[in-house]
Amino acid sequence: MKKKVVSLLLAATMVAAMVTGCGNTDTPAASNNAADNTVADNAADNTGDVAADNASDAADAAADAAGGDLADKKVGVCIYQFSDNFMTLFRTELENYLISQGFSASNITIVDGANDQATQTGQIDNFIADQVDVLIINPVNSSSAETITDKVVEAGIPLVYINREPDEAEEQRWEDNGWDVTYVGCDARQSGTFQGEMIVDLGLDTVDLNGDGVIQYIMVEGDPENVDAQYRTEFSVKALEDAGLEVDCLSDQVGNWQQGEAQSIVANALGQFGEDIEVVFCNNDAMALGALQAIESAGRTVGEDIFLVGVDALSEALEDVLAGTMTGTVFNDHFSQSHSAADAAINFINGVGNDYYIGCDYVKVTQDNAQEILDMVK
Ligand code: GAL
Repeated sequence: MKKKVVSLLLAATMVAAMVTGCGNTDTPAASNNAADNTVADNAADNTGDVAADNASDAADAAADAAGGDLADKKVGVCIYQFSDNFMTLFRTELENYLISQGFSASNITIVDGANDQATQTGQIDNFIADQVDVLIINPVNSSSAETITDKVVEAGIPLVYINREPDEAEEQRWEDNGWDVTYVGCDARQSGTFQGEMIVDLGLDTVDLNGDGVIQYIMVEGDPENVDAQYRTEFSVKALEDAGLEVDCLSDQVGNWQQGEAQSIVANALGQFGEDIEVVFCNNDAMALGALQAIESAGRTVGEDIFLVGVDALSEALEDVLAGTMTGTVFNDHFSQSHSAADAAINFINGVGNDYYIGCDYVKVTQDNAQEILDMVK
């Protein structure tokens, strides 16, 4: 059963890149609240608030019941790559929150998978040998989840996956076997839809700069193995099509979530397609910041002769949204996700158990609410 978690903050208020080619893949329709537009809307729409609050309360109560015991518990955290901006925000918040819940800093070990599954698998083996009490894993490859789950479950260690969602069959296995394994994250289809809607909301007359009745765009993708990248790519464009707009994909390339790679991809695309490019979709903000560098170097102006959207709500990107140099972004709530992951870990340690999927909402960010989000993340 899926559980929607209230956002903690919101409740409180080639050339080297591989060319992937344009076009959609067949995936199930998004079941999201794509109509939500503001922080207030989202706060009001947390239909799972009660369940989420209960889960959080359960973690608090369990932590209280355990007294100082959490201080003796060992937590192993595997991050796919430390040099990823968003995962840096996530892991910093995760560590702080674990400490605030009673874990001792010296018992929290966070390791860098360096974007290499073999490296990460070795780190998981070490954590198992060290007999940690719980593992929180951001897998390098989601497709390795089955192997990871098997060895962690066999070692009798509860497991919380974060950020990179294993596939449905894998999640079903946890439920079928009653294993202490869960996933905490957002539904990337919602973030893609929000990106597309921000472009739709500008209106065809504004976005269709060459007046041919078609929206010409380029797409800069994150890691193609990652469901976040796949869904954002698909659902951003789908939102345009669903609004009745005709689209034309001029270029679709992989920037691996990295600013530098995106900068060169977009610089080359601008060189090749020039003024034909009306919209630049980036699967995350780091790449949107790279795209912006390329756009400015090419003498183009966001909001006037090109439009640019990202995801994550990095503070630098929020400053750009406020300044009008980015059209919009989508808040990827690392506070809510890291706190829910830690709460799930505490529940496992205390034998309380968890749902097999713990979700969270994205928030659409335009000039209207960027300051509000910036105040939260800064
Ligand atoms: C996404 C995030 C990206 C990147 C990726 C890593 O949710 O938007 O910026 O961090 O996770 O898996």
